Amino acid sequence: MKEKIEKLKKEKNAVILTHYYAPAEAQEVADYVGDSFYLAKIAKNSTADIIVFCGVSFMGESAKILNPDKKVLMPDLTADCPMAHMVARGKIEEMRKEYDDLAVVCYINSTAAIKCQSDVCVTSSNAVKIVRSLPNKNIFFVPDRNLGRYVAKQVPEKNIIVNDGCCPIHAAITVEQLQKLKDEHPAAPVLIHPECEPALLAISDFIGSTAEIIAYAKNSSQTEFIICTEDGVDYQLVTDNPDKKFFYPVPHPCCPDMKLNTAQAILSVLEKEDNEVQVEQSVMEGALRPLDKMLELGR
Ligand code: 13P
Ligand code: SF4
Repeated sequence: MKEKIEKLKKEKNAVILTHYYAPAEAQEVADYVGDSFYLAKIAKNSTADIIVFCGVSFMGESAKILNPDKKVLMPDLTADCPMAHMVARGKIEEMRKEYDDLAVVCYINSTAAIKCQSDVCVTSSNAVKIVRSLPNKNIFFVPDRNLGRYVAKQVPEKNIIVNDGCCPIHAAITVEQLQKLKDEHPAAPVLIHPECEPALLAISDFIGSTAEIIAYAKNSSQTEFIICTEDGVDYQLVTDNPDKKFFYPVPHPCCPDMKLNTAQAILSVLEKEDNEVQVEQSVMEGALRPLDKMLELGR
């Protein structure tokens, strides 16, 4: 299957972009593997004719919006992020009426329609930097309450109001699960994603995006780590550090939508060129502004 995928990629001038949460088989055949910010930048600058995005819908949509002339395909068009839908359009309008100087900061894990109503997009690796750089005092952070609360703690000079959405995978990890791991591996630092609940962040050693967690483990002289994020990162962690040990909450946090990106689905989409990401023209235009602003401010 791998050989067939490689052959089709060359024949069709296609590139495969894969998120760290996708299955190992999708990371193995990828041209680029990364966190959301890195993949958005790669998508924007890609000169390939076809971009196969192994992630979830908001990622495919963002790639299409950032590089509209490309054919963006997804191995499975039903792969979606539940959190992307956890803010109502009316709520943003309501907040804008309440605060004159409001900046709506939208986590990239959101629908294109919500991006249209926002001032700037962020990802977990640039949210603090971008929010700090905004001139506005009042910020409405959507849709993730946990990334929003983490940013609020790092940028106390702003009044950050958070929308009550969350990642069902990260928010389900409990303090008890994490504490058990800490008791079992007292020397291992806890590397955690900011989509987890604040009580877990408070007892962790390093908070970062998937790419930042992976970089931390690679650059550290320590040999054991507790990893508090979706278990797809294990493929890169083990590839980079064959002699280090990684421990996850039990049961492992696993995003079923990300796992739809199988090698079989990648091969099929490359063969048939179906599952094309379509975004309405007016939505494309509206969502491009906050995405481009993220690329500019996050630089
Ligand atoms: P990052 O890779 O940007 O940390 O994103 C995490 C995530 O939940 C993507 O769905
Ligand atoms: Fe969405 Fe969470 Fe899955 Fe990421 S891990 S795609 S935030 S549900």
